[in-house]
Amino acid sequence: MIKQAIIPLAGLGTRLLPLTSVFAKELLPMNGKPGIEYIIEECIDAGIKEIVFIISKKKEMIKDYFYKDKFYQNIIKKKKDPRILNEYKKILKYRKMIKFVYQNKPLGTGDAVLRTRKYIKDKFFLMLLPDDLIIKKNCSKSMIKVHNRYKSSVMASMNVSKKTVSRWGIFKTKKKLNKKNFLIDAVIEKPSIKEAPSNKAVIGRYILPKKIFLKLKGQKKGKGGEIHITDTIQSLINEKEKFIGHSFSGKYLDCGTMKGYINSSKEISKL
Ligand code: UTP
Repeated sequence: MIKQAIIPLAGLGTRLLPLTSVFAKELLPMNGKPGIEYIIEECIDAGIKEIVFIISKKKEMIKDYFYKDKFYQNIIKKKKDPRILNEYKKILKYRKMIKFVYQNKPLGTGDAVLRTRKYIKDKFFLMLLPDDLIIKKNCSKSMIKVHNRYKSSVMASMNVSKKTVSRWGIFKTKKKLNKKNFLIDAVIEKPSIKEAPSNKAVIGRYILPKKIFLKLKGQKKGKGGEIHITDTIQSLINEKEKFIGHSFSGKYLDCGTMKGYINSSKEISKL
């Protein structure tokens, strides 16, 4: 069973500047609710019991969001507003599930994942990238079902237009398992149209094996001088670790760019 999730939140969010010069992008509201709450709800609905947030000193406002007890208690005493009481109860419920670890230098997603190694208990865990929202169908829940059936690692996949492959991590597929799932042969970071072995892109939901931590310790910097989790996944695939690509049914919303964030807010308000 997959009971633990990790969420890397220590990136700089440069694509959302100037907002991110003073604000954590994961707290930006979408239809009145911070983006991160949609991700937490996806986890809870998928049966996750514990979530590890990887934050940095610069993004401590994310931790603060869950630890404003005195503030809430004073207001609740004075105002007796049931809405505020409910919001506080919800925050407390979320907080019980969350642990915080720090990555003070954004060395890359691989380095962020490595920070959680002491917290992961089971053989597999879930990772969600909060810039990628998936609405209408719980992608994590579907992936956990695939994991339970095949007992392997799983990564979310979406077909993208051929013209845009160079913006994504692209899967080289090995074998189709059924309509929604395929075996992964390789993941190629931002290939040219010519290089791209498919139009199946990696989206930010992963079920990863605990053994990835051993590999991450020795992971060298990759493209852009960062330690990429995809490079480590590739070395596991090279060593015959089974990874399945799952073509999810929900609707993907990109919240990591300004254009994407504005569009995601509109889409979410229609729900
Ligand atoms: P990205 O590189 O896509 O986003 O990281 P970013 O760094 O937050 O923002 P830009 O690119 O500057 O606009 C994907 C996810 O991994 C986290 C980010 O917080 C984001 O959720 N991340 C990235 C880390 O936690 N640590 C890192 O060193 C890098």
